Amino acid sequence: MKFNIITIFPKLLDSYLEEGILSRALAKKVIKIKTHDLRKWTKDKHRTVDDTPYGGGAGMLMKIEPLYKALQHIKKSSQKIEKKKKKIILLSASGKKWNQALAQKYSTLEDIVFICGRYEGVDWRIKEFIDEEVSIGDYVLTGGELAAMVIIDSITRLLPGSLGNENSVAEESHSKKNVGEYPQYTRPEEFKVGQKKYKVPPILLSGDHERIKEWRRKNQKIIK
Ligand code: ADE
Repeated sequence: MKFNIITIFPKLLDSYLEEGILSRALAKKVIKIKTHDLRKWTKDKHRTVDDTPYGGGAGMLMKIEPLYKALQHIKKSSQKIEKKKKKIILLSASGKKWNQALAQKYSTLEDIVFICGRYEGVDWRIKEFIDEEVSIGDYVLTGGELAAMVIIDSITRLLPGSLGNENSVAEESHSKKNVGEYPQYTRPEEFKVGQKKYKVPPILLSGDHERIKEWRRKNQKIIK
């Protein structure tokens, strides 16, 4: 799976990709990530990527030409991929809400392009050149970069070879609708803070797998 990220802050994403599961997935070539500095597709001295909105109003908008040129450039590298295996996604607070079902669905794609919006938005003529507008939640971020990372992270961990234990994806919460994770504990059995003791539920130490299963089923946290 290849992720392309169009951004005015290409370095913003680097440190997150240097450690953990994503860095391992990159090293194992389960994923590829290419950041594209939007300013590369500007021609003026100041490398302008934004401008004021027609009709007035607060804030600045991202200009259409650099974005279009960036998309044209990226398209060349994904020419051989079938249309249904690739998507161009504009990240914005007003897009379709990201969730685990979409992560599952998009994990079958081969190439995703993210346009990270900044400022107050993007010249809306962009709609002709994207497949989806996606939001990661009902709040407004300063830009789409974090949203791109959230989406990349949630897709990557579903790809075969990215996690050590492939079962951890199948068993976890969200993989069955409305069913949550159960509470889990690890050593020590008894955790003391001053006089107070915090114990692991005894049943989990019983070795009785049937009863443990039943306990987990009863204690599942339901996702609304
Ligand atoms: N850009 C600004 N806010 C966003 C959000 N909630 N999701 C995706 N991109 C955004």
